[in-house]
Amino acid sequence: MHADAKTATPDAPSGRPVLMPSYVEKAHLVVEDLPMMAAWYEKALGLSPIETGASGVILGVAGTPLLTLETDGAARRQPRTAPGLFHNAFLVPSRAELSRWLAHVANSRVPLTGASDHLVSEAIYLDDPEGNGIEVYRDRDRDEWEFLPEGGVKMATLPLDLQALYDEAPQERWGGMAEGTALGHIHLQVSNIPEADAFFRDVLGLDVMARYPGATFFASGQYHHHVGANVWNSRNQPKRSGAMTGLSGYRIRFNDRAALDTALAALDRQAIATTRGGEGVSLTDPWGIGLTLSA
Ligand SMILES: [Fe+2]
Repeated sequence: MHADAKTATPDAPSGRPVLMPSYVEKAHLVVEDLPMMAAWYEKALGLSPIETGASGVILGVAGTPLLTLETDGAARRQPRTAPGLFHNAFLVPSRAELSRWLAHVANSRVPLTGASDHLVSEAIYLDDPEGNGIEVYRDRDRDEWEFLPEGGVKMATLPLDLQALYDEAPQERWGGMAEGTALGHIHLQVSNIPEADAFFRDVLGLDVMARYPGATFFASGQYHHHVGANVWNSRNQPKRSGAMTGLSGYRIRFNDRAALDTALAALDRQAIATTRGGEGVSLTDPWGIGLTLSA
């Protein structure tokens, strides 16, 4: 945490995580049944296909790619304990949009796995049909967040009143996720927390915003978190290897070019191999997940 982090908060450009110095832009899942999974993400989450190919589809909102689904014939089903995805978290622009989506999934009988009030946000959880975790959430206004004197922000896990949220839903036909929906954060399962601190804080330059037992939350721009990492299912598990289903990659975009250069220099110092391509700088994170950094 930088010493000036707290005083920097009021100057943050807006509450939107994609406007902060770095943010998670997109995730990439390897799936077993592409047509079924693509249809599910379109129907349940209201994502739209942006590019469709024989072995993959890019889904997003209002033309912004958020999620790639891809098949790989050689992929074996990932063990539940494998490092990888805990959830992709889709941030909707408002509580009204969260309630509109909730009414849609409730009326469509899409099973949910949980719902929480995290003080900074209100979140609803579910799994896709192949077991990949998903969160759909809305942020409270930043001036309602409690930034802590020692750095970071106060978060908790409290019950969320789903009935009240459902009852607020605008009475209009569901037409998909609202424009402005983003991949607000990604939450990973990792093998150990010190390694996550060393990578996301010390190499990628994110700030530690909160800690739970077995989990750390990292962000740029004093967001509550762009990346979460926990060991709840995956403690001390070996990194991903070979082709397997689940999260094969994610992309972090830097709005601040200097912050990307600092991260690239840190990667070089740690002798973490990178390749430079049209999409940015690609590497494998400490848990065997592909990561692309771009500005
Ligand atoms: Fe989350």
